[in-house]
Amino acid sequence: MNRPAILIVTGAGGVGKTTLSAGIAAVIARRAARTLVITVDPARRLADALGIAMLDGTTNRPTPVPGAGPLDAVMLDVTASWEAITRRHAKPEVADRLADNPYFRAVADRFPAAQAYAAGEQVAEFAQSGNWDVLVVDTPPAEGGIDFFMAPRRMRDLVGGRLLRWLTGARLPGRRIFYRTAARPMLRLADTLLGSALLEEIADFLLDLRALYDGLAARAAAIDRLLVQAKVLVATTDSPGAMREASRFFSSLPEINASPDALIFNRSLPDTWITARGPKGAGVEDAALRENMERWSLEARRNRDARLEMAARLAVPMATVPWLRHPPIDIAGLADLIDRAAGLTAILETVTA
Ligand SMILES: Nc1ncnc2c1ncn2[C@@H]1O[C@H](COP(=O)(O)OP(=O)(O)OP(=O)(O)O)[C@@H](O)[C@H]1O
Ligand SMILES: [Mg+2]
Repeated sequence: MNRPAILIVTGAGGVGKTTLSAGIAAVIARRAARTLVITVDPARRLADALGIAMLDGTTNRPTPVPGAGPLDAVMLDVTASWEAITRRHAKPEVADRLADNPYFRAVADRFPAAQAYAAGEQVAEFAQSGNWDVLVVDTPPAEGGIDFFMAPRRMRDLVGGRLLRWLTGARLPGRRIFYRTAARPMLRLADTLLGSALLEEIADFLLDLRALYDGLAARAAAIDRLLVQAKVLVATTDSPGAMREASRFFSSLPEINASPDALIFNRSLPDTWITARGPKGAGVEDAALRENMERWSLEARRNRDARLEMAARLAVPMATVPWLRHPPIDIAGLADLIDRAAGLTAILETVTA
């Protein structure tokens, strides 16, 4: 079975990761490659364009995108993913207990590393299925995408970490018995006084989490290997905040298993604006228009210079995707956005070569 090519689109919140992932996947599928776009929390209209209903129970199940060739789309649901993860790595009774445990649910729902890890596990599942030639992965925005790449190791550290080992004592066979016979009654007593099952639930949660360790550690290593081989596109806009986040991603590279293959500037002002001039008339309106256009001309020049400077400094190929007046809302529009990008086709060809 051939492993699919994996293409990861990462970047700060709101820069257009989901839009670009969908567009890129549509363009790749047009070349007859069996493609799956894995989205995270798509905007309603984008979900509609991909034909993925945002209903309970429909997440984590890839469905064909109507009228887009061999393109499937799936929306990730981290809570559902964590249920699958526990079933994969723990005995059924432990998995059942974890699914009911409020602390486990809180960690799965809110802990960013847990969300990023669940996304990684799901990508590994799809990669192993052999159903697709290319996976295009839209990443959760936490920490400008760094989280996604750190997650497998962080998860392994958390579940196998010293704190948890000390609390749950997995290496000492007597520890669990001690807990059952001595600690649990004490916790029950404390819980009675506090008026809830708080401490006992926490202790149960920690013991059960420890039971996941072996399966999770092996799986996390496999996800790490997938991420190393993946092509990584770092998305940003021309705004200073987004560019700072993208730079931060690049400066974290020594710690994370990723080597970006390109920097994509989304929502760029057209270069033609740099030299555009306003009307020559002497009237008030013409003067106002001229002033307006001069400002946009300066802004477009500043943005272009900043893009070139950043790509040169980071020594990475770059692409620019135009800022559309009307954001794309269907598959044809999403593919068209990618077709109109400068420098992206060449990058995608190397990715899928
Ligand atoms: N090139 C573009 N031109 C115009 N609008 C765009 C463009 N790219 C994206 N948008 C719009 O910008 C908004 C944010 O895009 P998108 O949801 O893809 O970002 P994101 O990075 O996935 O956000 P989040 O981090 O919240 O997941 C959307 O409304 C989208 O339609
Ligand atoms: Mg998104």
